[in-house]
Amino acid sequence: MGLKKDFVWGAATASYQVEGGAYEDGKGLNIWDVFCSEEGHIYENQTGDIACDSYHRMEEDVAIMKKLGLKAYRFSVNWARILPEGIGTVNEKGLQYYDRLVDTLLENGIEPYMTLYHWDLPYALHERGGWLNPESPEWFYEYAKIIAEHYSDRVKNFFTLNEPQCTAGLGYYTGEHAPGLKVSARDFFHLWHNLLKAHGRGVQALREFSKGPVKVGMAPCGALYIPATDSPEDIEAARKATFSLPENSVNAAIWDVAMCCDPVFLGHYPEDIMEQFGRYFPRITEEDMKLISQPLDFYGQNMYNAVTVKAGEDGKPVRVKRYDGFPKTAIQWPVTPECLYWAPKFLYERYQKPFFVTENGMSSHDWVSLDGQVHDSSRVDFLHRYLRELKRAAEDGADVQGYFAWSLMDNFEWAYGYSERFGLVYVDYQTQERIVKDSGNYYKEVIETNGENL
Ligand code: BGC
Repeated sequence: MGLKKDFVWGAATASYQVEGGAYEDGKGLNIWDVFCSEEGHIYENQTGDIACDSYHRMEEDVAIMKKLGLKAYRFSVNWARILPEGIGTVNEKGLQYYDRLVDTLLENGIEPYMTLYHWDLPYALHERGGWLNPESPEWFYEYAKIIAEHYSDRVKNFFTLNEPQCTAGLGYYTGEHAPGLKVSARDFFHLWHNLLKAHGRGVQALREFSKGPVKVGMAPCGALYIPATDSPEDIEAARKATFSLPENSVNAAIWDVAMCCDPVFLGHYPEDIMEQFGRYFPRITEEDMKLISQPLDFYGQNMYNAVTVKAGEDGKPVRVKRYDGFPKTAIQWPVTPECLYWAPKFLYERYQKPFFVTENGMSSHDWVSLDGQVHDSSRVDFLHRYLRELKRAAEDGADVQGYFAWSLMDNFEWAYGYSERFGLVYVDYQTQERIVKDSGNYYKEVIETNGENL
């Protein structure tokens, strides 16, 4: 037993977090360019204007991927690079950047996994209401059509949206992310429904206009739960918690896995969501649900940690308090490796699709040691612990196809700017020098042995 022979060992990044080149070669503005240029939104008012400068250092980055032995690279396309106004005129230079990236990856034997939307909406579309505009699914369709026509001869794996929960929740409800709005509950559920419809339209465009078969999925996030013990009652409580609201609040709805994935994979919104928030949704038609639940080829999940629950009265999930001094990463997220066992298991049971961990990793406050190396032993241990659990899930029957480490390299961590480092590769933002961290070398060994060393 062990992992599949052709297990997809990858690493992920996102356009705004690594590319830089924010004002070059005809690229249009996006909501992150504008959000970061306004004071007070980002740690020390940092911006992604330059980030890791991958727009100019693509070859070097791919050479590092090759050195690490990566089989796949998950990256996102900066929509406004291709369509500066979001729709309409295409910017050839933008297309060419991803042409070069895709070609270089393929020349090096690395499979491109392309994400269409990792949060950087063209600003021109924001000015038309962004995801609040009921036309937005059609904008996404137009963009996805161009992507399909142009890249599908070489790119065979696509993700439509990365974490629509963050787009809607952090971007429009709490305002922590671009475009920094705090809309009403009604507007929130309207734009949520638009986002899911956009996903559906994106899938349709990819299928209609691709030159040959492609595989399509989504990369959502959401609150995950693990059982306090191995008792059947606690396991059932964790399963229940994964797919239901812990409380009646919009904030809980945002992170409810089922609010995103039941419509997408099962064709309907969960009952508890409709009971609590149905009055805020637009009129939902059968056609809408058909569109949203276009068949997908795989299930992707971004996952970093989970909440521990036990069975309370009547089996209801009850949150278990963590002990004092519970391990956590630099960004304060708890270290819960078992989420890579339980989440794939629960999600595979419910949605029955080949499973990918589309993101997983940790931040630590790494620096370069006197010997010139970056010794991130906590990340080595983190990877070891989490990947062991994933392997166990695969051995217990979940159809686990691949794993994308977040992230290939340190990058612009949204509202945290450059203060959090998630990379397997260290980036010196003063010189743009890259240094493979100990965790990068460890991951290389994991890949070489296909996880036998875990
Ligand atoms: C996002 C990434 C982000 C990472 C760490 C995910 O929510 O997709 O863009 O950098 O988590 O916060």
